[in-house]
Amino acid sequence: MRSPAPGERPERSSSTRRSLRRHKAARPVLLLLSLVLVGAVYAALAPATNSAAEGATDAQLIAKGKDLFAVNCASCHGLNGEGLAQQGAPALTNVGSAAVDFQVRTGRMPAADTGVQAPPKENTFTDDEIAAMAAYVASLGTGPATPEEDQYSPSGLTAEDVARGGELFRTNCSACHNFKGAGGALPNGVVAPSLQDADAKTIWEAMRTGPGQMPVFASGAIPDEDVQKVVAYVEQVNQTPSSGLTLGGLGPVSEGFWAWVAGIGSLVLFAVWIATRGARA
Ligand code: HEC
Ligand code: HEC
Repeated sequence: MRSPAPGERPERSSSTRRSLRRHKAARPVLLLLSLVLVGAVYAALAPATNSAAEGATDAQLIAKGKDLFAVNCASCHGLNGEGLAQQGAPALTNVGSAAVDFQVRTGRMPAADTGVQAPPKENTFTDDEIAAMAAYVASLGTGPATPEEDQYSPSGLTAEDVARGGELFRTNCSACHNFKGAGGALPNGVVAPSLQDADAKTIWEAMRTGPGQMPVFASGAIPDEDVQKVVAYVEQVNQTPSSGLTLGGLGPVSEGFWAWVAGIGSLVLFAVWIATRGARA
């Protein structure tokens, strides 16, 4: 550091230095901020993949997916995903990559049998193979894309959000899955599975793609923020240890039953007590 020369006016020199310092720091900070801004805007506006480099790997991924599909899926869904009526297998032209990711990750597809609800089982494909088949099916038409983590992750939600998720769950899901997500039987031997082990991504994909008898909950009806609240609610229910008497997780019905037993029971005991005293008197 150079101290001001005797002739220099110290005031001016220090203010110049100050503004220079501000300038020096401001530039990289401004650059960084605008980069972050551009990144955020890009992430918000850009479709999942659209750069030229990604386009090239996309084509490879789709080609790989097509090969895997021909071997594992085409016998029921047709070589071009058009669906084969004699196998009872639907067309996959507009189901999107999310449906493939859901069906294969949960082991439902490739189905072992036709005509019945395909049960979840151990998935034998790698993540890359699933991504490839999903990319191939997505290339056949439209449909929801496999979600990014920020679409389904419930991190950072408040207790209020979780409560709202509970409301949404009771309104939209509990009729089939039970209010604690314990699952339930539907007509014609169909089962709405327990959600005990369902992770956030699986919940998002199930809602957006509506597997089997489950309805589709489109983003117009339940936006991603609300799906995250539903996820948070399901996770909270799953993490809450069911200590002691769980009442079968059936909620108001069995809780009411126990209230009834305890309440009426004590009234009966009280009446018996009065009666015995009355008899003695
Ligand atoms: C044995 C026949 C069979 C095979 C093999 C099979 N599927 Fe399926 N697939 C079905 C049937 C039947 C359904 C309808 C199930 C339902 O509605 O519950 C179905 C449904 C699906 C769906 C859901 C469609 C929708 O509307 O949401 C996807 C996605 C799917 N299959 C992907 C695949 C993929 C990918 C493979 C290969 C890895 C595969 N399937 C292999 C018979 C098959
Ligand atoms: C009309 C009944 C019905 C409603 C309402 C319903 N589901 Fe489902 N759900 C099902 C059925 C049936 C399946 C199994 C589909 C299959 O195996 O093909 C399922 C599957 C799922 C799965 C996959 C579970 C797994 O382990 O693979 C999740 C997650 C799920 N539902 C979440 C929800 C959520 C969250 C809601 C509310 C927003 C909801 N469901 C509403 C019937 C329903």
